Amino acid sequence: MDNPIWGQAALAYFHFLSILVLTSALIGEKLLYKRTMDRADVKRLQRLDIFYFVFAMTAAASGIGRIIYFGKGWDFYIQNPIFWAKMVTYILVAAVSIPPTIHFIQLGKQPGNTVNVPEADFRRISRMIQVEHILLGLMPLWAVLMARGMGR
Ligand code: HEM
Repeated sequence: MDNPIWGQAALAYFHFLSILVLTSALIGEKLLYKRTMDRADVKRLQRLDIFYFVFAMTAAASGIGRIIYFGKGWDFYIQNPIFWAKMVTYILVAAVSIPPTIHFIQLGKQPGNTVNVPEADFRRISRMIQVEHILLGLMPLWAVLMARGMGR
């Protein structure tokens, strides 16, 4: 168990697992979100959004862990513009995910068993979820380039 490969592999595994779960949660949101929903669907949407948030945090934590404990050292990453492109993309994903989260919380406050989303809100929030997908899809590209020393 003293072999550092175990720790390295565990962090890499949690990094990938987090990415899988957060992407699945986002796909779930995209499929569940409709102009007319019942209360149970809104609750599911809110739960998926919490999953999304928690696993975005564990993706960041395991990524930071990889830098600190088992990566190639801070210098390898800090001097690499592709690493910063990945970090900026992550921050953009986080920023774009705020309005949908607020929207889902507000939907939960609507009275009655049927929840209606105004057309303009539906288009805006659906577009934001799409943008999150596109930005998330960019991150593995930055990652594979960065891991192989591109940009140095
Ligand atoms: C703050 C958030 C994140 C940090 C600090 C971070 C950091 C890291 C680090 C240090 C590595 C190891 C690179 C190496 O072996 O030299 C890595 C690998 C990787 N990351 Fe992240 N990451 C973050 C979020 C994400 C997200 C959200 C995704 C995907 C959507 C992602 C996708 C990947 C992939 C695919 C690899 C493996 C690259 C390879 O070995 O070819 N990362 N990340």
